[in-house]
Amino acid sequence: MKHTTELTVRDDFTIDQPLHLYTETDHEVWRSLYARQTALLEGRACDEYLAGLHHLDMGHERVPVFEELNQKLMAATGWRIVAVTGLVPDAVFFEHLANRRFPVTWWVRAPEEMDYLQEPDCFHDVFGHVPLLINPVFADYMQAYGEGGMKAEHLHVLPMLARLYWYTVEFGLIQTDNGLRIYGAGIVSSKTESIYALESEVPNRIGFDLTRILRTEYKIDDVQKTYFVIDDFDKLMSDTRQDFTQMYLNLDGLSTFKPTDILAQDRVINKGVTP
Ligand SMILES: [Fe+2]
Repeated sequence: MKHTTELTVRDDFTIDQPLHLYTETDHEVWRSLYARQTALLEGRACDEYLAGLHHLDMGHERVPVFEELNQKLMAATGWRIVAVTGLVPDAVFFEHLANRRFPVTWWVRAPEEMDYLQEPDCFHDVFGHVPLLINPVFADYMQAYGEGGMKAEHLHVLPMLARLYWYTVEFGLIQTDNGLRIYGAGIVSSKTESIYALESEVPNRIGFDLTRILRTEYKIDDVQKTYFVIDDFDKLMSDTRQDFTQMYLNLDGLSTFKPTDILAQDRVINKGVTP
């Protein structure tokens, strides 16, 4: 995380985007990442993501001005992005999502972190997450997730719900008429994973199954061992629309699945191979 002592952080953890703190190196990193990923994502990212990216027209030369993106975003789906200094507490994050505000980290990774960094930066948050917020169904899904998160926190079942976010919003794949495509922000913002997620024989690719996902562990420091594939965003929304309270009770105390597991019940699209 960058040095941020001169920034005024509000009670909801937001700040004004400090445009004066971006260096030419920051803009160069943004430019390189933007060029690299847009070239890779043609034919790999789903149409909804690419349409959102096109609609936002966030510019490839310099780090975007968040308020300019907000004009397009708010007109499309009523969402807006708010600048933050890094990860915010879960309760704060959910409250923002439930009110159609997506917190984005203001700072850009260092040049030596082009291929991997552990915490989300501006490129991951803006390039990865914001294009799909232009899509009305996905926009509703994200708000519903925020509302569900507030409830899950109250019920002390956050680890279960966090797996749904991980395997959809961050690392989701979608089946299309043209084959598998990417929609997860963790994939679209990563060179390595946008190739690996679709083309590697190593990971499992399994049809979306809500209760199965709520029990499936994940690793945060490596490419995924399993991807869950949705049929479309409407189906994702309808599959997750119900109140999860009874499901949490049913799953309480049951064992979790390893990221590499394949179960008899799974709708297997690709069975991974051990590297
Ligand atoms: Fe993310």
